[in-house]
Amino acid sequence: MNIAIIGSGYVGLTTGACFSELGNKVFCVDNDLKKIKGLKNGLIPIYEPGLEELITRNVRKKRLIFTSSIKDAVRSCKVIFITVGTPVLDNGEANLSYIENVAASIAVNLPASTCPTGKHQAGMNGYRLIVEKSTVPVETGEWVKHIILANVKGKVRFDVASNPEFLREGQAINDFMNPNRIVIGVESKIARDLLSELYKPFNAPLVITNIKSAELIKHASNAFLATKISFINAISRICDKVGADVEEVAKGMGLDKRIGLSFLKAGIGYGGSCFPKDLDAFVAISDKLGYDFKLLKSVKKVNIEQLDFVFQKIKDSLSLIKGKTIGVLGLAFKPNTDDIRNSAAIGLIKMLQKEGAKIKAYDPQAIEKSKQVLAGVTFCPDAYAACLASDCLLIATEWDEFKELDFSRIKELLKRPLIIDGRNLYEAKAMSKLGFSYISIGRKNI
Ligand code: UGA
Repeated sequence: MNIAIIGSGYVGLTTGACFSELGNKVFCVDNDLKKIKGLKNGLIPIYEPGLEELITRNVRKKRLIFTSSIKDAVRSCKVIFITVGTPVLDNGEANLSYIENVAASIAVNLPASTCPTGKHQAGMNGYRLIVEKSTVPVETGEWVKHIILANVKGKVRFDVASNPEFLREGQAINDFMNPNRIVIGVESKIARDLLSELYKPFNAPLVITNIKSAELIKHASNAFLATKISFINAISRICDKVGADVEEVAKGMGLDKRIGLSFLKAGIGYGGSCFPKDLDAFVAISDKLGYDFKLLKSVKKVNIEQLDFVFQKIKDSLSLIKGKTIGVLGLAFKPNTDDIRNSAAIGLIKMLQKEGAKIKAYDPQAIEKSKQVLAGVTFCPDAYAACLASDCLLIATEWDEFKELDFSRIKELLKRPLIIDGRNLYEAKAMSKLGFSYISIGRKNI
């Protein structure tokens, strides 16, 4: 199939690369000319394991094309995915202006219908399927349809569909290629057939539903996962008070198949470009629809408080933060990505700096992006350099390489053998044996 992907961010690039790997011809579009120029020259704008190889291979095979022309893509492709960003507005609502612009641009470029009635008929030339893949509030599909109808020239044949994406950054390709399920929201047989055909190579259950339900599945899934994280973080607060172990509690809960072990990792709170924004947008659309989603408001509150909780732990263990040097390991919002959007690590660093701390930080991938948002931080070439002459070590992101550090060396480098582990990366007993004061989340301080 010829497929257009409008918006070459995390989701767009991964979707485009994976669909081309499966033998489709994919046009990845972006209005950022610099980005498109870079992509044409093999420059991948994000760090995502495996993505570069996948893009290079498929560009070489001429199945993956980068362009800034929506017109070319719409003319060449029957299925057009919208994968532009839906950032959050000040009032919490999703900013749909990028979707609006793309929908209008698609509309003016839709080929004229050769069918006098303009009715959808399978196999007829000129038909286009416009699929929203960006995370959007419920009822956006209807709105997209209105925008297209308001901008089309003459008779055209098209459908709008919803096909939310569930991939995670850091493991995007594996998630895309091996999804738990594929959700398709459609209103016509031709749309259903086209998307079913496109997803045929995937070995996953297909949930075919209407557009509004598909849109809701995405918001509800992210909101539920964030709720799991805030739930276990709230439990970590109780564990902390009574000396229980949140890791053991999570395991004991998660082995119940109805609960499941995933997304029960306590820490410094969730971040990233999805959960915080999607929760805000879901609360905002619920308010608009007349439902006060108090549960999700609490999920957000617990997440914000978790950062205060960790900050207080650092403060308690250092007595005074002002003038202290803190070595920080991890800047990205999670491992295996260079993404720092809404990173709890960055939030925590800013709080510590405000209190007068000096920061020495290291991250395997996110230093360049962090330089743009953090002033006055000493960025280090490795974990050991961040430890050198620091008053304590803070673990803010659980990169694998932080699991393998030489702790005897770290003990010698630190001014004081104090580790505050915001991700419960280490065994408390082992740290104690090595001679560290070890403070973690929802576990006994040692
Ligand atoms: C999330 C969802 O997991 C994806 O399914 C979804 O497609 C994506 O949002 C999206 O809407 O685009 P992502 O933001 O890439 O994916 O990252 P996650 O792995 O979900 O982690 C989100 C945050 O939660 C991170 O800050 C992570 O550190 C935190 N987290 C995750 C915890 O604190 N504890 C956990 O147990 C799991």
